[in-house]
Amino acid sequence: MTTKIEQSIETARKLVADDKGLLAMDESNPTCNKRFAKYGIPQTVEARRAYRELIITTPGLNQCISGVILYDETIRQQKKSGTPFIRVIEQAEIVPGIKVDIGAKSLAGHPGEKITEGLDGLRDRLKEYFDMGARFAKWRAVITPGDGIPSRACIAANAQALARYAALCQEAGVTPVVEPEVLMEGDHTLARCGELTEELLRAVFIELHAQGVTLEGMILKANMVLPGLACPQQEDVDKVAEATVKCLMRAVPAAVPGVAFLSGGQSCELASARLNAMNIRSKGTRPWPLAFSFARAIQQPALEIWKGEDSEVAAAQDALLHRAMCNRAARRGEYTPAMEETFVTQHA
Ligand code: G3H
Repeated sequence: MTTKIEQSIETARKLVADDKGLLAMDESNPTCNKRFAKYGIPQTVEARRAYRELIITTPGLNQCISGVILYDETIRQQKKSGTPFIRVIEQAEIVPGIKVDIGAKSLAGHPGEKITEGLDGLRDRLKEYFDMGARFAKWRAVITPGDGIPSRACIAANAQALARYAALCQEAGVTPVVEPEVLMEGDHTLARCGELTEELLRAVFIELHAQGVTLEGMILKANMVLPGLACPQQEDVDKVAEATVKCLMRAVPAAVPGVAFLSGGQSCELASARLNAMNIRSKGTRPWPLAFSFARAIQQPALEIWKGEDSEVAAAQDALLHRAMCNRAARRGEYTPAMEETFVTQHA
């Protein structure tokens, strides 16, 4: 009989196999509503359901997407026809996953810093999600670069929470996607982001070891090493690729089966180009595959087209699939800006 740990390992391998990646569609209701508000889409349960149905019924999605990350509301929803979302995902041979943290809250005594919550009752929630069909989970910790921050306390508390979450996941046979994110907001330099990301990853792997997490049965969801959005110096794609790979090589153990990047607010095209450059630059020299686990950088164009209109579902699905295909190409080091033009002509 397969043990829970073996199950975590098998799922982790599946998630990064065949040059595919993850699609994060786990926006909390407030975040999803905020994105809808921008396009005048009603902020209702039904609109959120319809949007998620559009995503998971995209024809051909499983060519590029190995797993989707759901939110608690979404994992319980169904297609209009009545088929539960989780069955639709399984039938497409995509692995269903679930966000299990309950958000980043203010860290007491540390103004401007956050601690991610959700450990209380997590064992029971993981069991429920596993019984529903979820085979992997996600927990996101956020680190804000700023004047005198992050503090050691913030890094330590978040690293420990990530490790405790990961251990509970593996106990339940659920593969943990461990996501420590250095935010892009701010005027910090690329070098500063590199230092912080390395420090954070080192702290996380020390805690994962302390909590007895099996590295082969997890996925690291990392930020790329980027200059802050308000930093005057914006390095090119190759510099970002170089800094990111260098940082990961220093801090991520070889036993980890895969690194899947978050997009963090980059444009879709830049996220693909940077992933592509990293895959070309480090081919044959790094121990883990470099994949993607994007939300905005896959969904954004589709949401913009859909805007809540039934008549736009097919065009929105084309746009979603296009982004997923660009990112699969980027995993192979085969993404080119020309791929974007081909798509535009198809839908002109
Ligand atoms: O936790 C963050 C999401 O899973 C990834 O979202 O690609 O829009 O940063 P993003």
